[in-house]
Amino acid sequence: MGEQIRLDRLVASQLPEVSRAGVKKLCLKCKITVNGKTVRRSDIRVDTDDEIIVDGKRIAYKKHIYIMLNKPQGVVCSTKEGESTTVLDLVPEEMRRSGLFPAGRLDKDTLGFVLITDDGELSHKMLSPRSHVPKTYLVQLEKPWEKEYESIMAQGMTIDGGERCLPAEFKGHDDDPCMCELVLHEGKFHQVKRMFSALGNKVVMLKRIAIGGLPLDPELALGRCLEIMHKDVERLLTK
Ligand code: URA
Repeated sequence: MGEQIRLDRLVASQLPEVSRAGVKKLCLKCKITVNGKTVRRSDIRVDTDDEIIVDGKRIAYKKHIYIMLNKPQGVVCSTKEGESTTVLDLVPEEMRRSGLFPAGRLDKDTLGFVLITDDGELSHKMLSPRSHVPKTYLVQLEKPWEKEYESIMAQGMTIDGGERCLPAEFKGHDDDPCMCELVLHEGKFHQVKRMFSALGNKVVMLKRIAIGGLPLDPELALGRCLEIMHKDVERLLTK
């Protein structure tokens, strides 16, 4: 047994192009069946495990959706329509549904992993300052990294305005003096850029490559989305 839910709510939540009023109209046109029976009312309660067919298409009910986006530069992490393209504009039709939002923000010029979901509870757990879910960044610096960055960041550094940062893990790449990786356990405004700036360096490219224990799929092209399978969702919260 699944969950009991109104038919119009269930259908509208799974098909972004259909509103609740639209579900009512489809019922009146005899276009919806529940467990093989045509239903004429959209306000009946159904079980999320029921076989629901809308206009010949079976609804594969999912309570929430989790989307991995490889964000390109120039795209904003916002739900508001404005001048710039938003991360939601990059979600393909088949993954769209109402209530989607980016869980956490990357700057307009930052690339990489953005989670887009309609699960407020998971987003809260992932972003809450107390949860300390790690976020891993690949960073290209203007000047070569220095050995002491590791210990300075491990102690928890102070950035401009006297803000204290939690200890972070720095790892310089051996094959490129300007490339490094940084794992943060919090998300202050422009944090990576401000940390390197406090060390007298400058970030020239920033890409988020993992959230919790879930890495950005290396095969995922910039600007493309991938639905995260249920077995992988809890990796987003792994410390
Ligand atoms: N730190 C930054 O400075 N920018 C981001 O987009 C993410 C982390």
